[in-house]
Amino acid sequence: MQNIRINGQRLWDSLMEMAKIGATEKGGVCRLALTDVDKAARDLFVRWCEEAGCTVSVDKMGNIFARRPGKDNALPPVMTGSHIDSQPTGGKFDGIYGVLAGLEVVRTLNDLSYETNAPIEVVAWTNEEGSRFAPAMVASGVFAGEFELAYGLACKDRDGKSIGEELERIGYAGAAECGGRAVGAFFESHIEQGPILEAEAKTIGVVQGVQGIRWYEIEVIGMEAHAGPTPMERRKDALVGAARMVEEVRRIGFANLPNACATVGMMEVSPNSRNVIPGHIFFTVDLRHPEAGILEAMSKELEGACEKIAAELKLELKFEEIWYSPPVKFHDKCVGAVQEAADALGFENRGIVSGAGHDAVYVSRVAPTGMIFVPCKDGISHNETESATPEDIAAGCDVLVNAMVACADAD
Ligand code: GLV
Ligand code: MN
Ligand code: MN
Repeated sequence: MQNIRINGQRLWDSLMEMAKIGATEKGGVCRLALTDVDKAARDLFVRWCEEAGCTVSVDKMGNIFARRPGKDNALPPVMTGSHIDSQPTGGKFDGIYGVLAGLEVVRTLNDLSYETNAPIEVVAWTNEEGSRFAPAMVASGVFAGEFELAYGLACKDRDGKSIGEELERIGYAGAAECGGRAVGAFFESHIEQGPILEAEAKTIGVVQGVQGIRWYEIEVIGMEAHAGPTPMERRKDALVGAARMVEEVRRIGFANLPNACATVGMMEVSPNSRNVIPGHIFFTVDLRHPEAGILEAMSKELEGACEKIAAELKLELKFEEIWYSPPVKFHDKCVGAVQEAADALGFENRGIVSGAGHDAVYVSRVAPTGMIFVPCKDGISHNETESATPEDIAAGCDVLVNAMVACADAD
């Protein structure tokens, strides 16, 4: 262990500078994937990487790789990174922290004139959030061979624009093949996005794995009719059906505690007019659990409950699972490197399972992978008030640089 320390002020300043791109009034960011603000943030990241001496390449999914050579460039790179895109009401840290922590690793190694054995790469993955284009983590998924390139490029937003079109539009449809190359190890630093580290006054979460996620798109179809003359018993009100289904989602979440989560995050009501009985509802469901079997049982229960409600109310139901990300256990080598670095640097730490999805999930299929968590204020994330301290942000990056150097010099 080298006990290298990064420049915490420089990392913090870079985060705050980046947070100006897509800044919201409430202090967060809105940087939806492949919008003009995403492009502006990508451009700034690329400029900073080039100024730090890296060679930048972009692949066909718009993933950006910044490479710092090592002594032996035939070795597969030790890679780190996360995502630049955010939720519509996102914070200043989710994703971008892992990207800029990677840049800070490069800058720190430059300051020290430290030549690692294997090269180092910093990556910004396209569309991690899945907010504009479902599913989440799609571009790291293509990189890892989970999805075909054609599938990734064809993912559409709710206005019908595809990832491929939007990459072309913002100038990030790169030439490099997406994936198909060796990665020595991958690390992702991230805020925890939950309350555990803060509650236990731990600085570092040594991430052991990530819970499973299933995403559904549900359509409930009834019949539009006049809100005045149509008697109550003759109605086919799609919104009433959807409302009862939302209650079921919540019930299933509570029924599978302590570890289950169940959320309806998006709903579209059509025609959305105050004196028309709603004829068509589109809504999404996000189910999560660390155990694959329980998660599957939750999804079966949800489908059965939705069918029952639709039949009772004489509504048509379209129920589609659009994404399954199974629970993941990270690689002993990388979890060990994070643990060792956190201990050697003297940071209070604990093992933790991620409740959020991350690009590290897919990368773990093609490379030994680990993650580093730091606390966030009140455990709040996917919220403009998301906050973390400069000290914790720096500590996570200290752990990152030492874990990466240990792997890059191991061969
Ligand atoms: C990504 O932020 C997710 O966990 O849904
Ligand atoms: Mn994230
Ligand atoms: Mn997120």
